[in-house]
Amino acid sequence: MKPVRRASVLISGTGSNLQALIDAIFEGRLELEILHVISNVADAPGLQRAEQAGIRTSILEHGRFAKRDDFDAALALLMSVGKPDLVILAGFMRIIGEAVLIPFEGRMINLHPALLPKFRGVDTYQRALDAGENIHGASIHFVTAELDGGPVISQVEIPVEQGDDAERLAARLGPREHELVVATVEFLTRHAVECDDGTLIVDGKSLDTPYLLQADGALHAR
Ligand code: GAR
Repeated sequence: MKPVRRASVLISGTGSNLQALIDAIFEGRLELEILHVISNVADAPGLQRAEQAGIRTSILEHGRFAKRDDFDAALALLMSVGKPDLVILAGFMRIIGEAVLIPFEGRMINLHPALLPKFRGVDTYQRALDAGENIHGASIHFVTAELDGGPVISQVEIPVEQGDDAERLAARLGPREHELVVATVEFLTRHAVECDDGTLIVDGKSLDTPYLLQADGALHAR
């Protein structure tokens, strides 16, 4: 993938990560055009955030499609509007199939609230607490056919504190996720990042461990 200029964003809910991207663009910290925000939930609050920022929005409710493949085909069509360099799944709570994966392979990233490969899927906060983890976090990875299983580009870590429950952990991770999504997309605007058969290639060199978001708000090699 060549350095990214134009992106579309898929959401299902609050859209606070979308807002972080919009704010970074408006504040001149991120050189990116958001072409389109697509939600599979009609009343997702994130849609209003997009509208307020003057971004085109579309709603595609999966419940209106009898077959999963038909939803995926319609989604792929919407995603191709404006020919984005990158599609960002920011709280998109829907598993996508081949009709999307094939045309957008290597051009789709997902934000996941866990330190992948740990805790793929849902309820990541509670599962991390139940497992007695001392550190939790979030990851951004390329989307592949394997759920939350594509190559991880970047991560942010936070300590699990005494007395944390899932809600408290999620509340503390939220702002760090916002930083991670902005820093990672910003990185993708400046570097050529490829996903080659499960390996990440950054500016022609393979990356063995994901970048880590540091206190300075930037991604650094571990
Ligand atoms: C984020 O915490 C993101 O990590 C999570 O959904 C939230 C969306 O928040 N994504 C997943 O769980 C994907 N499996 P937002 O709508 O406020 O950006």
